[in-house]
Amino acid sequence: MNGDPIFDPISIHDVRFRNRILRSSIGGRSCNYDGTVTDVWKNFEKRFADGGVGGIVSTTFHVNEKRRSPFQYPSIASRRCLPFLRKYLPQIQGAGEGCRYIMQIGDPGYATYVQLLPDRSAEASASDGFDLMLGYANRRRMMSDADIERSIDEYAVAAARVREAGADGVEITASKGYLVHQFLNPGINRRSDAWGGDEDRRFHFLERIMQAVRERIGPDFLLGIRLSGADFNSHPLVLALLRWPPVFMSRESWVGNDAEQMRRYALRLEALGADYLHVVAGYGFPNPRDLPGRFPFEEIRIFFDSIRHLSGKAAFRSTLLHTLPMPVWRAILNLGWHRGDEVNLDLARRMRLAVRIPVIANGGFQAYRGVRDAVATGGCDMVSMARALLANPDLVKAFFREGDDPAKAARCTQCNRCIGRTTTSPLGCYERKRFDSEAAMLEQIMAFNRADEPDVPDAAEITNRL
Ligand SMILES: Cc1cc2nc3c(=O)[nH]c(=O)nc-3n(C[C@H](O)[C@H](O)[C@H](O)COP(=O)(O)O)c2cc1C
Repeated sequence: MNGDPIFDPISIHDVRFRNRILRSSIGGRSCNYDGTVTDVWKNFEKRFADGGVGGIVSTTFHVNEKRRSPFQYPSIASRRCLPFLRKYLPQIQGAGEGCRYIMQIGDPGYATYVQLLPDRSAEASASDGFDLMLGYANRRRMMSDADIERSIDEYAVAAARVREAGADGVEITASKGYLVHQFLNPGINRRSDAWGGDEDRRFHFLERIMQAVRERIGPDFLLGIRLSGADFNSHPLVLALLRWPPVFMSRESWVGNDAEQMRRYALRLEALGADYLHVVAGYGFPNPRDLPGRFPFEEIRIFFDSIRHLSGKAAFRSTLLHTLPMPVWRAILNLGWHRGDEVNLDLARRMRLAVRIPVIANGGFQAYRGVRDAVATGGCDMVSMARALLANPDLVKAFFREGDDPAKAARCTQCNRCIGRTTTSPLGCYERKRFDSEAAMLEQIMAFNRADEPDVPDAAEITNRL
């Protein structure tokens, strides 16, 4: 559509995107157990390129060999991953009318949910503490200087591999309550050494990662950061109360980094050579500022049951969630969760006013007008979408053709079952209400998770050869 700001191409650090919509990170169990990507992974990603997005930000590729969580998520922690990526990335980039591919890298730290056998590496964090909700380890443990230096190096090596693999850019995840976020967040980082104690020192880990990554990838490769626009540590309160040290101990624990603090970090990231900021919000994953909608209690309980063997905490958590009738737990855990559109646009706008690099907004985008207005009125330069595209992978085409929304019945309801299921089931939309039948729902899920047809000679050809 002529003159539509959504379809106005944009270049970030010489990488040209043909429209303003990115598919946001969506991870699922589509890789091999060693983290190498598969044809199923490629076909899943390709579906969004075929659907017309200007670019894709991958799920989190793990940089630490041991903290690959959950199972069958992709990894970039070893060179073994490279040939697989080199084989499949061009097929994604060449799909549709061409699609940029940015690989997100990260490390869950103590938010590691799964390992083959319990391992102390799943305790790694900025400082000691406890969190009943995130990860499986019984406690989180303060990383030593040597652990931290190793981790910085892992990010740098991983980023260099992203470039070698042929991606268009690399994004560091500093959100989601993952390791970098654990260092940034004053409620989690209780250190009083070079890596914590005030805002400068909490930033030091990310600063060093940025420097090490830039050095390895060179000045010309696209480097973005996924950042929480504000931490909202005490939201939702039910989950925050499951954390130690207690959330009510100080203002810093209660609030986390607020929008003003994150604005200051954004300026520092720009000075360190970040090419764009990808703005989400909240602490931990899932959290209602990042994933507005309902808390997917049934699905999360299935997942927690499946990992109960890993630790005393995991066993207790799973047992606890069976102590009350399901509707009671559902009601309790849904406190603080609400459906919402464009929920982080205000935070993205605030950052955009502060920095000169492009800002990508994420969280609850689905309506044509919401996306268009966000871009047209300067709230952000691009938007990224996850669940809306999982529900309607051709949404961008619909925007282009009709400049309008899909039928109401087909829209994502923000039930969040997809996120609850992502660790146990094939990735797709599990909102039965959106489909005419259960069979239709399963068909869409399986269509997302299809392998390539093997190139096998037919029987007659084999007989002829013999
Ligand atoms: C199934 C699923 C898997 C996700 N996996 C990741 C991930 O691996 N890394 C990440 O940073 N965000 C991940 N997210 C978060 C999304 O990228 C996005 O921030 C969130 O869904 C909010 O955007 P939306 O309202 O457009 O869905 C995931 C979301 C979903 C629904």
